[in-house]
Amino acid sequence: MKIVAVLGSPRAKSNSTALARKILSKAGELGAETREFVLNKLDFKGCQGCETCKTKLDRCVLKDDLSEVLEAVKEADALIMASPNYFGEVSSQFKAFFDRTYSFLNADFSTRVSPGKSSVFVFAQGQTDLNAYADVFPRYERWLKHYGFTENYLLRMNGPRDADSASKRDDMLQEADRIAENLTSPAG
Ligand SMILES: Cc1cc2nc3c(=O)[nH]c(=O)nc-3n(C[C@H](O)[C@H](O)[C@H](O)COP(=O)(O)O)c2cc1C
Repeated sequence: MKIVAVLGSPRAKSNSTALARKILSKAGELGAETREFVLNKLDFKGCQGCETCKTKLDRCVLKDDLSEVLEAVKEADALIMASPNYFGEVSSQFKAFFDRTYSFLNADFSTRVSPGKSSVFVFAQGQTDLNAYADVFPRYERWLKHYGFTENYLLRMNGPRDADSASKRDDMLQEADRIAENLTSPAG
């Protein structure tokens, strides 16, 4: 199976990136073919709202570094998304990626993505209370389901804000392994 990770943190020792990479490495050990894209290292624009993907093309008209990412996501069996929480939302880098997935929808809003894929949303926040920002994932999950991602996992890391905190969180690392096992299991 093919797994693609789209990493939305600009930090070198990012918590969300570390957890996404833990899932990727475990899935790799279990036989998955893995690939990652660090959005902050890519040169791309946000959605232009031109609707060309609805009127003239079956893909985004923009040709930049995100074109390859969008194609890789479409071809993958599973997508891992990782983002820090910035002011109660995903990072601007990640939001720009997600907006460009508008090109996954036909003019009638049916999906261009083949069904049965899985996804993982890794979301890191400084706030320790997990009740805070519990609204973020369901808003993205709604569209992921619509696109055809039937199994959608969530891994939330709560505090501290410091970079490189995830590597000290055994609970998070174990959960990352469990998610990788589910992704790569025949029913996953
Ligand atoms: C611009 C900015 C805004 C942030 N806003 C929030 C916030 O609203 N709530 C929160 O709990 N943490 C907030 N944080 C803290 C980050 O979510 C936290 O450091 C997280 O671990 C970053 O993930 P990363 O290590 O993957 O980059 C913010 C950090 C930055 C730099």
